[in-house]
Amino acid sequence: MEQRLKWEREARKAREQLAERLGRTPEERKLLSTPYYIDHLLDNVLFSHELTQMPMSTLPPKAREVLTKAQEKMVGMDPRELLDASVKVNHPGNWSSPGGPQISKSAKRPLIIGPGINVITSLLKDHDPKRRLVLMDINPNTAGMLKRFIDHYGIKNVEVVQGDIRKIPVKNVDYIQVSMVLHETPEKDRAQVMRELESSLSPPGKEKRGRIHIIDKTSHAPCEHEEKYSAVNTEDLKRQIKQAGLKITKRRADGHRIYITARRKGR
Ligand SMILES: C[S@@+](CC[C@H](N)C(=O)[O-])C[C@H]1O[C@@H](n2cnc3c(N)ncnc32)[C@H](O)[C@@H]1O
Repeated sequence: MEQRLKWEREARKAREQLAERLGRTPEERKLLSTPYYIDHLLDNVLFSHELTQMPMSTLPPKAREVLTKAQEKMVGMDPRELLDASVKVNHPGNWSSPGGPQISKSAKRPLIIGPGINVITSLLKDHDPKRRLVLMDINPNTAGMLKRFIDHYGIKNVEVVQGDIRKIPVKNVDYIQVSMVLHETPEKDRAQVMRELESSLSPPGKEKRGRIHIIDKTSHAPCEHEEKYSAVNTEDLKRQIKQAGLKITKRRADGHRIYITARRKGR
């Protein structure tokens, strides 16, 4: 109980500090320090959820304007500060998924698609500077923040690319992680995504054939942009993977998530 009160105090303080930085007038600061708003803005910026995920249409125009301006400002802030605030308001006491899923240790040329910002926490913990890691995210803000973070901490041999999973500009990799990205990719594009993933792996026979590691949601609360955020249908995904010339080598599901490992066919 005491612990919970402490977290609540910390969350309130973190919100107020951010509101202080982001609001231009006392009214704006008061509005911004409302729990719901700052919490969502942090998620939007750090994890690239779009502002539209918050039911903005229900907000009065003034609030919408203030929140949009605040989000633009947040993008220019030190990501460490935002991560710190995010832990306090959204993940009190700990980070629920520190750094996202583990990055394969055996891969020589790994590619992480849609890493979000929190991948930095795992890179700080155990990135091997002897191998080249590529991080690719569609969101230019995320890509920019990742670059700044990497420079700031002097993390070696990590390249950040802004790119779309529907047209992957990075080729010849031997491991691709796609965690919590497919549900943000329209259903109609997922077959194309599987073909792109397949073509980014090293050609069979060249080296050990690569693998793709997919994690995603099999259920998703309804939201305003259903076309853009929709849960993965396991059967459809399995079919799309196979049609792209990949073979599923491992599969498991727990609760609302599915975990799939797929390899290139042909060897
Ligand atoms: C929910 S976050 C997942 C973060 C992390 N991978 C994890 O598992 O915790 C989704 C990420 O995918 C990125 N993303 C969404 N659509 C994408 C696309 N078409 N191509 C590349 N990245 C995309 C978003 O910008 C965001 O950084």
